[in-house]
Amino acid sequence: MKDIITLGIESSCDETSVAIVKNGREVLTNVINTQIEIHKQFGGVVPEIASRKHIENISNVTKFALKEANLNFNDIDIVACTYGPGLVGALLVGVGYAKALSFALDKPLVGVNHIEGHIAANYINFSELEPPFLCLVISGGHTHLVYVKNYTEFEILGKTRDDAIGEAYDKVARVIGLEYPGGPKIDKLAKEGQANIKLPETYFDNLDFSFSGIKTAVLNLNHKEPNINKADLCASFEKATTDMLINNTEKAIKNMKVEKIALAGGVSANSYIREKFKDLGEKLKIHVYYPELKLCTDNAAMIASAGYYNFIAGRISGLDLNAVPNLKIGEI
Ligand code: KG4
Ligand code: ZN
Repeated sequence: MKDIITLGIESSCDETSVAIVKNGREVLTNVINTQIEIHKQFGGVVPEIASRKHIENISNVTKFALKEANLNFNDIDIVACTYGPGLVGALLVGVGYAKALSFALDKPLVGVNHIEGHIAANYINFSELEPPFLCLVISGGHTHLVYVKNYTEFEILGKTRDDAIGEAYDKVARVIGLEYPGGPKIDKLAKEGQANIKLPETYFDNLDFSFSGIKTAVLNLNHKEPNINKADLCASFEKATTDMLINNTEKAIKNMKVEKIALAGGVSANSYIREKFKDLGEKLKIHVYYPELKLCTDNAAMIASAGYYNFIAGRISGLDLNAVPNLKIGEI
């Protein structure tokens, strides 16, 4: 069978990324232009600035990706782009650019759900991984326990009722004086501390999550005790949030009788979370997959991979594709 080359575009937040992926799993190039240095001075992503930077960068990032892969536009078979969820102005840049490319090259356009993209990052790293499996998507905007039935069908088993876990990490980091994005800084500082501070954990009858309670508890504690040991606070926050993730995931594994689970999204780069899930896998004798660090956070290779599987399933978009900022997983 002829190889299928997908060009993927990601612009849902503060990374302008273009990747070229062969047959859904082999990355030829994955160029990521991050705007972190720009947004850092504001303590978080400024949507208007993000859109402008995407516009400035997208064409050059695409040309650079083609050069790196030693290909030209005519070698591309599919154009895939994130169309939601995300910041509307940022998404529109990628969607508009992808539509123009698809029209000019006369090649199919495939709109990709960003969360489904995060899940697909695992296909790139693990050639043997095939659905069904359970996936815990933990990122700056999302916290979902998803049953991946096949490459294009998903069932949400649980999700956050308030803050996404990454949002809580970034907020906690900000109040204790760590720079945006706070997740990696908490990860590092926690290694110097002990999880000796009791923080509230929230559980429901179903598999939903809540991280606003623990976030507020840390903010109050830091306010009341400004000299509190920050490393201990980070270690305790990491432990309590991970306990909640493990609790629900373990229940879901038992309910669904799955034999493999995957982690996905920026927060799955966290070293403590990776270690605890590895332990869980050993305890339950199931396979635990997590993508390499570069594929955990936002990148276009995962979008190209998910786009390829959408294409194979006949899910092709029209030139009327629009950005959908609050797109839900499994929604078309
Ligand atoms: O997946 P992502 O790049 O963007 C979204 O789709 O939201 O995730 C970004 C989030 C941020 O909240 C960031 O602080 C968090 O992932 N993050 C981490 C780590 N690396 C990134 N959180 C905890 N530990 C890390 N090592
Ligand atoms: Zn993301």
